Amino acid sequence: MTPPSSDWTPIAEEAERAARVLHPEPNMLPRPDHRRVLTVANQKGGVGKTTSAVNLAAALAVHGLKTLVIDLDPQGNASTALNVDHRSGTPSVYEVLLGEVSLADAVAVSEQSPNLLCVPATIDLAGAEIELVEMENRESRLKEALSAEAIDEIGVDYVFIDCPPSLGLLTVNAMVAAREVLIPIQCEYYALEGLGQLLSNIDLVQKHLNPSLAVSTILLTMYDGRTKLADQVTAEVRGHFGDVVLKTVIPRNVKVSEAPSYGQTVLAYDPGSRGAMSYVDAAKEIAERGSTNGSRSGTL
Ligand SMILES: Nc1ncnc2c1ncn2[C@@H]1O[C@H](COP(=O)(O)OP(=O)(O)OP(=O)(O)O)[C@@H](O)[C@H]1O
Ligand SMILES: [Mg+2]
Repeated sequence: MTPPSSDWTPIAEEAERAARVLHPEPNMLPRPDHRRVLTVANQKGGVGKTTSAVNLAAALAVHGLKTLVIDLDPQGNASTALNVDHRSGTPSVYEVLLGEVSLADAVAVSEQSPNLLCVPATIDLAGAEIELVEMENRESRLKEALSAEAIDEIGVDYVFIDCPPSLGLLTVNAMVAAREVLIPIQCEYYALEGLGQLLSNIDLVQKHLNPSLAVSTILLTMYDGRTKLADQVTAEVRGHFGDVVLKTVIPRNVKVSEAPSYGQTVLAYDPGSRGAMSYVDAAKEIAERGSTNGSRSGTL
């Protein structure tokens, strides 16, 4: 940012940044050549799966791309962040998995943007991991619910599936229903621990259940520039995974962690914050990758 004119102040700078987030140029982000379904997965808890799913979705929505978040975690954190009703009894992803309601009937529109939709998770989903074991097509129930016709009916360009911190049947359903996996990695000491297991699970799903599945995107989250460790982790992840890692890194930013308690994404809560800006940048990278001849650059 450049303008140190006489009336420049930090507040003016922040206001300008907020205006850029909230009023992007029309059509600034390209629509994908084909509809994109991204599963946000990492069995490690608290790495930024939910935060990334809802804020990337909000950033795409603000830029005119209709985006659906499917909350596939019984904790219901994505539903909370989008301020969507998820009390027991609300039509939710649980009934969708059981085949009792259609995707369209479980979709709620977030008050943050008419382009931002959510299929909520209620506490009922907690039993699904066990109930699914006995069911027919237990690994592909979400895929069936997310048929091309069902997605056409709600008319979305992007779907993000927010997974629970496990590699159980819910996460397998998410991997079978998507073509892309987005892995958030927290910039901390144990960042790469467990990643091998995640990647071998993705391989298994790819071999046996969903040949089109690939890790298209890795997003580094909660980067703390004051520590050497964060730089070491960043370098290691980039060395390992190359171009699949987004150039944008999400900084640790208190606004990002405060937003959900107001039922908001960080874009709505504090659009001028570094957290909001970096999720917008990450969303732009994702959207730009998705519009090149329908192929994704550098999948694993
Ligand atoms: N960039 C960030 N800056 C500060 N806090 C963050 C940031 N990203 C996430 N957090 C906070 O870290 C915690 C974990 O994030 P989040 O819930 O997104 O992780 P998760 O992987 O979805 O967790 P779980 O495995 O439990 O589903 C939350 O309290 C969230 O607000
Ligand atoms: Mg979560």
